[in-house]
Amino acid sequence: MPELTDLLARELTTARDRTLLLTDHDEPELLRQHSPLMSPLVWDLAHIGQQEDLWLLRAGDTRRAGVLPPAVESLYDAFTHPRAVRARLPLLPPVEARAYCHEVRGRVLDRLGRAGADRDPSSGPAFEVAMVVSHEQQHDETMLQALQLRAGPPLLGAGAPLPAGRPGLTGTTVLVPGGAFILGVDGADEPFSLDNERPAHRVDVPAFRIGRVPVTNAEYADFVADGGYDQPRWWSARGWQHRCDAALTAPRCWGPDGTRTRFGLVEDLPPDEPVQHVTFFEAEAYAAWAGGRLPTEVEWEKAAAWDPVAGHRRRFPWGAADPTAAVANLGGSALRPAPAGAYPAGASAYGVEQLIGDVWEWTSSPFRPWPGFTPMRYADYSAPFFGGDYRVLRGGSWAVGASILRPSFRNWDHPVRRQVFSGIRLAFDVDPGSAGTP
Ligand SMILES: [Fe+2]
Repeated sequence: MPELTDLLARELTTARDRTLLLTDHDEPELLRQHSPLMSPLVWDLAHIGQQEDLWLLRAGDTRRAGVLPPAVESLYDAFTHPRAVRARLPLLPPVEARAYCHEVRGRVLDRLGRAGADRDPSSGPAFEVAMVVSHEQQHDETMLQALQLRAGPPLLGAGAPLPAGRPGLTGTTVLVPGGAFILGVDGADEPFSLDNERPAHRVDVPAFRIGRVPVTNAEYADFVADGGYDQPRWWSARGWQHRCDAALTAPRCWGPDGTRTRFGLVEDLPPDEPVQHVTFFEAEAYAAWAGGRLPTEVEWEKAAAWDPVAGHRRRFPWGAADPTAAVANLGGSALRPAPAGAYPAGASAYGVEQLIGDVWEWTSSPFRPWPGFTPMRYADYSAPFFGGDYRVLRGGSWAVGASILRPSFRNWDHPVRRQVFSGIRLAFDVDPGSAGTP
């Protein structure tokens, strides 16, 4: 299957180009810890190489010798060393971390070129290459989160241009009629889907309404101006406790005077851009204030993937074609979400826009396995987190690599986290007798 081998080699290269760009900074910058929530960038860099070494050169067997001595390799075990302490570890200096990644990548490409990709891409070596690509792209997003938390003059510039928004969509909703749909995917249809996205199964979903576009900064500013952060009635008990403990008064990165700081740039808050950097608790409180609620992840996926006329899933909200800049804001170069209404061609079958890219959307759902869940070879990717204190986020942000995202892709984080490029989409109950009119 030379095409599959070529595709995977290209995906590896695309991810690596991005990693090298994000770590193309002076050594002190790479060694700095910008927040206890984030690793120094040089840790992410060598960890990317270490995971590639483990999964693609040693088939996940930690007893086999890797490129690094075991004592050095163990510094990059994410389960052993919490992010807050990683800057104090005797990490490889940047030049050695780059050389390590380069060495591993050379061996991987060599092996891929000789052996090729296998015939069952949904579970064999080709899947593991795709998993490693996904891992690297996910760390690229994590590094952008660290750079967003960084204090000091801008390092990254203003970001690539984005399409204009369309007025009139903010605050409008779309009806998703009740009925069954297919939740999740199978390896046969989405060979590179991760374990927590599988298997595909039928689920009945009562009718609901969902925001046509994500909640914007202007809408969220109304909540702030209306005293939303001062009124416990909009917050869950836990959410209010956190709002008080953490002294939250606005989304992270908002200034007191209608400005925000974005990768070190101070600029006016763009009113039509989806709000980002909110916790689950803030998202929940905003939704209550707005008279709605957060969608469940099942509702979200139905709104994104189901084609009710054809009676089957679409690969993406807009259809079968891979994402492009015409339909979604992905890949990280914009350094911000696109304004509401920027992607009419990216609408789902129900007419819901900007589901993929821009901001991760908090859902009300805890992270749990779908019935029939089977762990992939990297068994600790999902299973240790099921049932923990997490909420699921859907749809990916502007910082997600375009090739790793699907409507079935599930992200999860603690409800207090907001270093994530996380935003809000509202949902509303529909009275079963009203036929869904608002
Ligand atoms: Fe990782």
